[in-house]
Amino acid sequence: MAKKTVRDIDVRGKRVLVRVDFNVPLETQTARVLDDARIRASLPTIAYLQKQGARIVLCSHLGRPKGRDESLSLAPVARRLSELLGRHVPLAPDCVGPETEAMVASLGPGDVLLLENVRFHPEEEKNDPEFARALARLADVFVNDAFAAAHRAHASTAGVAAYLPAVAGLLMEREIANLSRALEPERPFAAVIGGAKISTKIGVLHNLLQRADRLLLGGGMANTFLKAEGFPVGDSLVEDDYLEEARRLMAEARERGVRLLLPSDVIVADRVAADAGTRRVSVREVPAGWHIVDIGDTTLDVFARALEDCRTVVWNGPVGIMEIEPFARGSRRLAKIIAGLKGAVTIVGGGETAAVVEALGLVDSFTHVSTGGGATLEFLEGKELPGIAVLADA
Ligand code: 3PG
Repeated sequence: MAKKTVRDIDVRGKRVLVRVDFNVPLETQTARVLDDARIRASLPTIAYLQKQGARIVLCSHLGRPKGRDESLSLAPVARRLSELLGRHVPLAPDCVGPETEAMVASLGPGDVLLLENVRFHPEEEKNDPEFARALARLADVFVNDAFAAAHRAHASTAGVAAYLPAVAGLLMEREIANLSRALEPERPFAAVIGGAKISTKIGVLHNLLQRADRLLLGGGMANTFLKAEGFPVGDSLVEDDYLEEARRLMAEARERGVRLLLPSDVIVADRVAADAGTRRVSVREVPAGWHIVDIGDTTLDVFARALEDCRTVVWNGPVGIMEIEPFARGSRRLAKIIAGLKGAVTIVGGGETAAVVEALGLVDSFTHVSTGGGATLEFLEGKELPGIAVLADA
């Protein structure tokens, strides 16, 4: 999967269209960027291009607008990026068209321009060739640094590469290099998979069963496995349509000799609310009408022991209901356990999971914290991502 990067081509003085993923959470009232991790992750590529005297044109989507929607303008991102770069980054009023072309033409070496939300044009998601060509007209070179959007075959992530030399940015390079370590892992290799639903993780679970030595499951997803095993789950989130799939996955684990660990104790709540009554119980004793909201301490101890001697660990998805503060405890303890592993390659993927690690200030204790959500999962499924496939091979 080796791809040419921005270091492999001459970008000196050139106009470079950089697809970044600035799809970041915004505060509704103030339109302030709530989590700038994805913006910070793009800084090495921008700094490299500035050093080369390139004229930098940044392009991103934000949210899923239906046509032009000012609440999804990239203006707050331009402000945050200006603060991070210590220089004003203007926002072009659109991502294509004569006004934008004029703004690009006036860029000097090292200048940075951010284009307005590329999804304001429905042609983007349709991967419309004319629209891709209009984007390509803005530049001499295309750099894809938007790993988190690389699973989308859109005009700005894939289509544009048909009209310009196309290479990976430094974040894209880092994501591919680190996530590949989970595809050919040093052993023992454990994957910890959480999150609300099994339905969104089927592909990755099947793929991991072919590679992992241990598979540790938590979060809402584990409830479906617990129910499939005949445990009482009260009123917990369960995907009844996936009970059979859960049984198949457990059978596959047995056949392949993969140790599959489900929670043995859980935190249950009488309501899914921060002020709910809670208790820690064995999975055999989940009371009728109660909800499983987190994993318990015994499970965390078992997980810690199962991870102790691992050389590669991948974690995707919280093991409790993260959005409700008291139910985030298990995920936070798990983050600390994985961060403390000695001599292991540790990889975290997925928006919410990365946010736990960020909030605890543990990013530097992990080998890699991926900026991707869906893209990371598809990469770990072993799929070829369109935004990577279009880049020149090294
Ligand atoms: C993400 O946040 O996962 C990416 O930015 C892709 O966003 P999308 O799911 O709206 O395509």
